[in-house]
Amino acid sequence: MKTKVRIPQPKASELADEVDRLADAGLSEVGYGEPELERLAKVTWRINRLKKELGAVIPAHVYQRVEIVKGVADFVGDSYKLAKDCVSVEAEKIVFCGVRFMAETAKILNPGKEVLLPAKEAGCSLADSITAKDLRALKARHPGVPVVSYINTTAAVKAESDVIVTSANAKKILAWMYQRHHKVIFVPDGYMGLNLARELGKEVGRDMVVWGGTCMVHENFDAGAVSFYRRMYPGVEIMAHAECSPALVQAVDFVGGTGDMMRRVKESKAPAFMLVTECGLGDYARTVMPEKKFIPMCRLCPHMRANELGRILQCLEDPQPAQRVEVPAAVAAAAKRSIERMFEIAEDTAKA
Ligand code: 13P
Ligand code: SF4
Repeated sequence: MKTKVRIPQPKASELADEVDRLADAGLSEVGYGEPELERLAKVTWRINRLKKELGAVIPAHVYQRVEIVKGVADFVGDSYKLAKDCVSVEAEKIVFCGVRFMAETAKILNPGKEVLLPAKEAGCSLADSITAKDLRALKARHPGVPVVSYINTTAAVKAESDVIVTSANAKKILAWMYQRHHKVIFVPDGYMGLNLARELGKEVGRDMVVWGGTCMVHENFDAGAVSFYRRMYPGVEIMAHAECSPALVQAVDFVGGTGDMMRRVKESKAPAFMLVTECGLGDYARTVMPEKKFIPMCRLCPHMRANELGRILQCLEDPQPAQRVEVPAAVAAAAKRSIERMFEIAEDTAKA
């Protein structure tokens, strides 16, 4: 039987240093006071020690709680960056702080490594909206039409797809596909499909078959409120995630994935920003760019929020079988092909 690894509490001086480190990392920018920082520091200190001891890495999506992103993560980013970073991970243990489809992608790219998802229940409404059986039925209705799947899908759906896309490259990869095919199937995000079809001048139905999945966070933002925000905050630059409704996407100043939004905020000289997306992005942006002004307009994703420091510590000390991410070998091999296709086309189009 494997013995559990335990790390003792930090000494007073170690705790004080860890509190300072968290404050310097920007946690005080997002409103954490001394008592809260001390409570968090007791856990981040032990997680970081344990990571070293076990040779583990923690990738974290930008929507994760800010104390995870700034306190214990080894690399942080959007879905594309995390997938790319996972290709070259040397550690034998990956504790993925994100949702299941992201952890599955890490496992597919690292079949021999142990991949753990602390919040084993962290799913995604988009990934839940379509099964491999649904996709096979859709393909049977549109024979020969290639399938472009958003990365927010299960491994089994990826295995049935021709190429995967993320918010960071969907437009370019679809444009690449349309140079070679007159029609594509796009799953599972219905709003993203409609937004992309409009941007690319394609007609849904004729040129693009779109599945009707939605993100439970982004589908709920109200396009009608955008003009009110502009009146309340003159000059504010309003940005929305590409999973938002077409009406909202057309009302805002900038649309993209989380990585695109971060880049745009860095470049922009606007007096204030509104990031219409999951709340984690605004917290992260405030820690990275404390000099910029952010007006909160966000919602919490229950799946992304399910990971928290206590569960990460437990997962490192004594991982439970349900926290281990497994993908059957045949599914993983087929899914890997469609993910690697994304890497190839994304790199190709970036050079062009
Ligand atoms: P990004 O790839 O833009 O980070 O999006 C991930 C996601 O889950 C959006 O809801
Ligand atoms: Fe899925 Fe939406 Fe949560 Fe992202 S924010 S993980 S798309 S439910």
